[in-house]
Amino acid sequence: MKKVVIIGASGHAKVIADIVIKSGDELVGFLDDNTELPESIIGYPYLGTVDKYSGYADERFFIIGIGNNLIRKKIAERVDARWYTAVHPSAQLAIDTHIGEGTAVMANAVINTSAVIGRHCIINTGSIIEHDNRIGDYVHISPNATLCGTVLVGELTHIGAGATIKNNISVCGNVIVGAGATVVRNIAEQGTFVGIPARNTASDH
Ligand SMILES: CC(C)(COP(=O)(O)OP(=O)(O)OC[C@H]1O[C@@H](n2cnc3c(N)ncnc32)[C@H](O)[C@@H]1OP(=O)(O)O)[C@@H](O)C(=O)NCCC(=O)NCCS
Repeated sequence: MKKVVIIGASGHAKVIADIVIKSGDELVGFLDDNTELPESIIGYPYLGTVDKYSGYADERFFIIGIGNNLIRKKIAERVDARWYTAVHPSAQLAIDTHIGEGTAVMANAVINTSAVIGRHCIINTGSIIEHDNRIGDYVHISPNATLCGTVLVGELTHIGAGATIKNNISVCGNVIVGAGATVVRNIAEQGTFVGIPARNTASDH
């Protein structure tokens, strides 16, 4: 059994808390820079601001429960901790997937054979990561998104809820793919892409 501290105390952090408990690990509590939080969050203690983490570092594991990709990256680079990887018991992982440390895999997500997921990612509820995907660090794959086979996603990219990425597509880093978009061509430039087929919103102007 691991003792786990969650950095962040928002809705996303509470979803991770649920995974920690259902995995049979011990939730120590939440660290968050919002000092106005209640003493107890879903029955577990608010422990103080993030810089208090070192007081908990012995024998504890940490996970960043914050949805914003860039904030997760900044905290991961600042906090010297052992990272906890949260995988909901209902997630389906093939025998040879690799999940980077600090990543959270939510309920009913599917990660198929030979997929590699980076560090501090969010593989959200019901999303599908098909075979041979390569997902960079600090990526968020939102609920019900579908990434077909051999999709590559660069660091810090956010794939919106229900979006679909066709097989053999590359999406570079620092991209936002809007909710419900369908990506049928490689994305090699930063920006926000929406619609079917997905287009860069900057090209509307
Ligand atoms: C694409 C997105 C990032 C744009 O956000 P935004 O910059 O705040 O954009 P706005 O809401 O101001 O909308 C700007 C325009 O884009 C349109 N638009 C916004 N999101 C869109 C989407 N997903 N698909 C198609 N059009 C979209 C709006 O209708 C609006 O059009 P208009 O100017 O003709 O009225 C956002 O809408 C989105 O889809 N985010 C993903 C959310 C998500 O999946 N969250 C999961 C969390 S777990």
